[in-house]
Amino acid sequence: MKLEFPKGFLWGSATSSHQVEGGNFNDWTEWEKKNADKLVRKAKTFWHGRQKKKFPEMFESKNYISDKACDHYNRYEQDFDIVKELGHNAHRFSIEWSRIEPEEGKFDEKEIRHYKDVVEALRARGIEPLVTLYHWTMPVWFAKKGGWLNKDAYKYFERYVNKVVSQLSKLNSNSCVNFWVTINEPQIYSFNSFLKGVRPPQMKNPFRYYKVLKNLVLAHKKAYRVIKKINPGAQVGIGKNNIYFEYTSFVDYFWNRWFLNKIKKHQNFIGLQYYFHSCLFGNKSESVTDMGWEIYPKGIYHVLKELKRYKKPIYITENGLADADDSRREKFIKEHLQWVHKSIEGGVDVRGYFYWSLLDNFEWDKGYWPRFGLVEVNFETQERKIRPSAYKYAEICKNNTLDF
Ligand code: FCB
Repeated sequence: MKLEFPKGFLWGSATSSHQVEGGNFNDWTEWEKKNADKLVRKAKTFWHGRQKKKFPEMFESKNYISDKACDHYNRYEQDFDIVKELGHNAHRFSIEWSRIEPEEGKFDEKEIRHYKDVVEALRARGIEPLVTLYHWTMPVWFAKKGGWLNKDAYKYFERYVNKVVSQLSKLNSNSCVNFWVTINEPQIYSFNSFLKGVRPPQMKNPFRYYKVLKNLVLAHKKAYRVIKKINPGAQVGIGKNNIYFEYTSFVDYFWNRWFLNKIKKHQNFIGLQYYFHSCLFGNKSESVTDMGWEIYPKGIYHVLKELKRYKKPIYITENGLADADDSRREKFIKEHLQWVHKSIEGGVDVRGYFYWSLLDNFEWDKGYWPRFGLVEVNFETQERKIRPSAYKYAEICKNNTLDF
């Protein structure tokens, strides 16, 4: 069967600065150094049997320290050659706030030039950039002020956004960005950092969690206005992690719609990030990723259908799995795309798909062992190896058609 996607559909993959660049200095790098040994101990109690044997690196402290990551900061040209070879016509990456504004109010022009070069390198290869402004890491000075708990957080963010966007909006130039994601997964961020307490600044406080969420709503709205003022034609959205809940509940509303409702007049598109499905008892599907996440492709159809109410174009800005031996990736991508296509047939305006991730990278508090990449990375030598599934995905991208 052949399923054709709408004309102009964006096909690509995604990364984020802290997970791939290497050589960063931000709240995460500081946290990693302090917590690596604890994370080793946690892995020892959490993972059992097969997983323990398959990924012995999870018991080494260095697994939890981002350090050089994929050295993408220096190797982006080479990595974008791969993106081109794989037939992607778009690419999502993020800008590292701590590089742009290493000290409060002081902007590093060299780093701004760097990201201009990155955008130009994509455009030179005919690849449309989709750029995230905040993908969870922050300058240390901002973290010291309380980060997103600070009542003026939006003002700091606004100033940074203004600086970056005004530099990357020269119309018709090769460094002009048309698609902006202001904030990546506000809900996952605040949940892990302020409620579950497993990521920096490791708080477990429902009031603070809610405060952060409210500050992120405000920060997004302000950023939206700033971007639209600089470039009225820019398309602005957030990266929204939505979960398919099989049951109606307050959690469903709060997780999937609360944030989107608050910003509904301040977005041109929705960036959907789909990984999870929740039913009341256990999992529906037997198949899981290396991280134990259930693989449930049909869920993407349900969450897409739910998003139709917002009457905005949708780009799937993340969807992917950790699969070190690449035995499930091709099937995973194809089955999710089948359901995406079905939602399009049902009238959902989906305009793009970005697989997470282009490269194996630093998976936050899990470190390097989970392998999400279309491209395998050897973190010792920095050698890249394109996985077989990446070539299968490339066929879909090149033909704008899923053939199965
Ligand atoms: C998402 C994050 C992304 C990556 C994937 C696996 O929640 O946005 O950075 O870690 O999960």
